[in-house]
Amino acid sequence: MRLAQLLFSQGFGTRRECAALVAAGEVSVGGRVVDDPDTEVEPAGLEFGVQGERWTYRERAVVVLHKPAGFECSLQPRHHPSVMSLLPPALRRRGVQPVGRLDVDTTGLLLLTDDGALLHRLTSPKRHVAKVYEVTTKHAATPALAQRLVDGVQLVDEPRPVRAAACEATGPHTLRLVLTEGKYHQVKRMVAAAGNRVEALHRRAFGAVVLGDDLAPGRWRFATAHEEALLDAPR
Ligand code: URA
Repeated sequence: MRLAQLLFSQGFGTRRECAALVAAGEVSVGGRVVDDPDTEVEPAGLEFGVQGERWTYRERAVVVLHKPAGFECSLQPRHHPSVMSLLPPALRRRGVQPVGRLDVDTTGLLLLTDDGALLHRLTSPKRHVAKVYEVTTKHAATPALAQRLVDGVQLVDEPRPVRAAACEATGPHTLRLVLTEGKYHQVKRMVAAAGNRVEALHRRAFGAVVLGDDLAPGRWRFATAHEEALLDAPR
């Protein structure tokens, strides 16, 4: 693949902008500046630098973001900045989109990808991808409350009771709750329907991807090859 074409595929601008970046000496491959945009490179595993920042070629991008409170998952945010503003321009330009949504005040793990098929699979209700939430409640988080959420609660506008796949009280006011669906405000509505109230909500895991303590709020990383393989695996 031509170097300028590779940069284009990774979101570094239009074809013309990418060719100009190379010609201006802003791009390195294997630590050496390459200033001919037509240089042929082998994309698989290619490590390159753009304006001093290091990148690895990726056919698709799967991004793990630690969403802070105060950011909207919408691409056209209305009242708060978009989570997209937390990502570098190259990722935004290559069309990375949030996999589902978290409320503006919810924190934690948000996946984003430019792989439309993966996005569809991960958000499909048929796939039952498990999402793990840490919930802080206003009133006591009792084992009885956890059991009620597992047994199912009736939400307005839902034909049948909605159940948590698992739920346990983890402290006087905290629950760990696992959902395999993604209905609008589902955790908050379920907890309210069970007579309590969500004071804070944090997503710890999405499928096989777990948010570690190494990723501070507002920071992102690429999913590892292992995480990608688990996200791709058919259930
Ligand atoms: N359920 C909610 O109520 N809010 C979220 O952000 C995610 C799940």
